[in-house]
Amino acid sequence: MKALVLAGGSGSRLRPITHTSAKQLVPVANKPVLFYGLESIAEAGVREVGIVTGSTAVEIKNAVGDGSGFGLDVTYLRQEAPLGLAHGVLIAREYLGDDDFVMYLGDNFIVGGFAELAARFRRHRPAAQLMLTRTSTPQAFGVAELDSAGQVVGLEEKPVRPKSDLALAGVYMFTPAVHGIIENLKPSGRGELEITDAIQGLIDAGERVDSAMITGYWKDTGNVDDMLEVNRKVLETLEPRNSGTVTDSELVGRVTVAEGARVVRSRIVGPVIVGPDTVVRDSYIGPFTSVEGGCRIDASEIEYSIVLRGASIQGMRRIERSLIGRETQIVPASPTPRAHRLVLGDHSQVRIST
Ligand code: G1P
Repeated sequence: MKALVLAGGSGSRLRPITHTSAKQLVPVANKPVLFYGLESIAEAGVREVGIVTGSTAVEIKNAVGDGSGFGLDVTYLRQEAPLGLAHGVLIAREYLGDDDFVMYLGDNFIVGGFAELAARFRRHRPAAQLMLTRTSTPQAFGVAELDSAGQVVGLEEKPVRPKSDLALAGVYMFTPAVHGIIENLKPSGRGELEITDAIQGLIDAGERVDSAMITGYWKDTGNVDDMLEVNRKVLETLEPRNSGTVTDSELVGRVTVAEGARVVRSRIVGPVIVGPDTVVRDSYIGPFTSVEGGCRIDASEIEYSIVLRGASIQGMRRIERSLIGRETQIVPASPTPRAHRLVLGDHSQVRIST
């Protein structure tokens, strides 16, 4: 069995972060979201992984390399434009050969991985095996309709009137039977080759499509709120570890301070992770916050946020529910005139509390 990881896509809902970084590389508890997926692929006993990339190919290659760090053998496949999930399979046709494969969406996050479901697929080898989760917003996903025996009898992509509350999560397992269907697929209304249409094609051709409910936590990390929530989930599982220098400070609960980090005259209430060489001084860091390496937090308060590498936050009371990009500087303005001075990247979002 091989894996096909889809890591193209432009990440428009995470702008401006995605102007300079792939959405799959946004860190969750200081580790790129894509890495959790690659780890769960290795855990499921898969070694050969094709990663489909788009305009952020170079960044993803730099981060993942040849995959050996994950115990994987990674091949990169270039998708010239984001033309749909089934298009990702189409361009990987040669790489996948006649092997079974798991298709994994690189921005999806599953706590607990999918090793058991991969074992089940290997035993039964249906043409496709889907992972489903109940949702209150089925309109935003591919939606499955099941018969009383749990077989998938119909699928619709982002239906206006969903036939169930069962969303397709971004992990799909296939035998090579899917390729014949994808070769003949037509683009959908949104101009993409949809994987839901391909699976519907398998059902129409009389092939067996199985499904399994996800028991644990799953999230498609499309926007900032999703990222913050996944960050919260992962931080809750971290074992506290202090490898930095903590002076005249209090660390409460699950707090990880990395090597070379310094915490001075501050209070950190976990779960929180502070990356290497970050300096926290005269500050409060509240629950569910990840601060990457090389940051400076001075005389500030921050909570429920993700701060990326090299950012500097000084004299800010207080920051919440924020995603702060690399090398960003948030500092007080000079006292007169009393005005905000902003240098913001394209598509930035600032909510100022005065
Ligand atoms: C894609 C699929 C959809 C699935 C979702 C899971 O949606 O088309 O069927 O439910 O991933 O994350 P997209 O992210 O392209 O909107």
